[in-house]
Amino acid sequence: MTQVTILPHAGLCPTGRALDVRPGGLLSDALLDAGLDIEHACAGACACSTCHVIIREGFQSLQPASNKEEDRLEQAWGLTATSRLACQVLVTNEPLVIELPRYSLNHAREED
Ligand code: FES
Repeated sequence: MTQVTILPHAGLCPTGRALDVRPGGLLSDALLDAGLDIEHACAGACACSTCHVIIREGFQSLQPASNKEEDRLEQAWGLTATSRLACQVLVTNEPLVIELPRYSLNHAREED
């Protein structure tokens, strides 16, 4: 199992979490299975950017983002150089530390 550490997020995970995740699975599935209510508006079709996460440690261990994912990421709120879409990330044997962005595109739109 691979340890995935989620940094504290005010709404979704106030004290942070550490998950044991089976390598080869999708990061979004691991988060949802653990009860973290991340947004995933397109249900993993790489057609939104609501499942945006920031990989704070372990980014280099992941397979590169596809062109389609890169295109979607450009729409993500708070994009960083280590941003990924959780529904496109396969967990490897390397531990990850991830940050859930404060907002998703959906939330940003609601606040406009
Ligand atoms: Fe839509 Fe990940 S759930 S891109």
